[in-house]
Amino acid sequence: MPVYHLALGSNQGDRLAHLRQAAAQLRQLGLALQAAPVYETAPVDCPDGSPAFLNTVVRLTTPLEPTELHRECLRLESAAGRPEVRAKNAPRPLDVDLLHTTAPFDNTEALELPHPRLHIRRFVLQPLSDLSPQLVIAGKSVLSHLGALADDPTAIRVVADSTWPGPPHYPILSLSDLPERKLSGPLLSVLTAYDYPAARLLDEAGVDMLLVGDSLGMVVLGLPDTTQVTMEHMLHHVEAVARGAKRAPVIADLPYHSYLTPEQAVANAQRLINAGGTAVKLEGGVSQLPQIEAIIAAGIPLIGHIGMLPQSIFEEGGKYRKKGRTPEGAAAIHADALALEKAGALAVVIESVVPEVATSVTQKTIMSTIGIGSGVGTDGQVLVLHDLVGGFPWFRPPFATTYGNVAETTQLAAISYISQVHHRRS
Ligand code: KIV
Repeated sequence: MPVYHLALGSNQGDRLAHLRQAAAQLRQLGLALQAAPVYETAPVDCPDGSPAFLNTVVRLTTPLEPTELHRECLRLESAAGRPEVRAKNAPRPLDVDLLHTTAPFDNTEALELPHPRLHIRRFVLQPLSDLSPQLVIAGKSVLSHLGALADDPTAIRVVADSTWPGPPHYPILSLSDLPERKLSGPLLSVLTAYDYPAARLLDEAGVDMLLVGDSLGMVVLGLPDTTQVTMEHMLHHVEAVARGAKRAPVIADLPYHSYLTPEQAVANAQRLINAGGTAVKLEGGVSQLPQIEAIIAAGIPLIGHIGMLPQSIFEEGGKYRKKGRTPEGAAAIHADALALEKAGALAVVIESVVPEVATSVTQKTIMSTIGIGSGVGTDGQVLVLHDLVGGFPWFRPPFATTYGNVAETTQLAAISYISQVHHRRS
């Protein structure tokens, strides 16, 4: 589904009310709307004596095509009282300009995307960089365009923070919000991250939680499975992710054989928290109860992991198998969930479980359930980052939808670079 950035501006009437109204109406058109703070800015290219503007940028995910959304923008402008015929740059209650879209689009006379002047206007770049600093416009990130602007005497100051359009669609999640979020609000989006840039990019994108999963053994370290991942590996990566995560809680996996006894479990969980984790995750329910209880008793927030357990690959005869297919299998998953809930776990990852069982666990437990390969009936979803962005082309689980092709982008960039360097000598 396309993601759009739109600039909102007003310099007539109750300016903030016009922006609020436009944001509320745009929110109705899509799945999610996030807003940058509102800035007051001096008018640019306007007749002398024009009043100051309030400007902001919103990010909208909507199924609408660019031309359809453009039509909606014009409709919002006239609904706010903007006359169709007016003197050039005369004061107006509302401007809604499409800035950028991820949808394929051939420019028309009425609409050019990205907006041809956005990268030279501070009143657009400033709020855009609050929301999507890494967005690339004309070959450079928004942040570098902003940095390249000459020092500007134009006054620009924040007048309303990022909560201005009403309750944010994706509230910044603290683990204590989980019970309320289970009852109402959007499902949880969780992604793995293993290093600083990924953590920072995903955090800025608005992910609810970051998981430093021991899947890093496979997708980062090139190991055949997760059983060779050590505490030292995990600490190294948790520290890096914690540096990049400014808002999303960081869940840190306890690796294989790092929680064999309650004492060892508490000591290692504490090391992960000291490295920057907000909570720890371990695999198993009933079978790990003493360790789970000890970690929670030590005051460390815990997230469970039930269903298919990658750390038990040897016990499973070397195969990752779907769980919950038989009545006994389903009962074991329910028992694991109940054990975790009674012990006080905040949430549970349900991996590779038949969807009906994952849904039924979700309905019965007060914990938030976060599914992976377990259907759509859970309270949230988690995905390995490399599966999301196509960063590990040698293996992708069948349930993972890939939204990008980082492997191809990286290899093509390297091929271009290598040929250019080689060419200089030939
Ligand atoms: O290690 C990991 O990435 C995980 C997810 C697959 C849930 O545990």
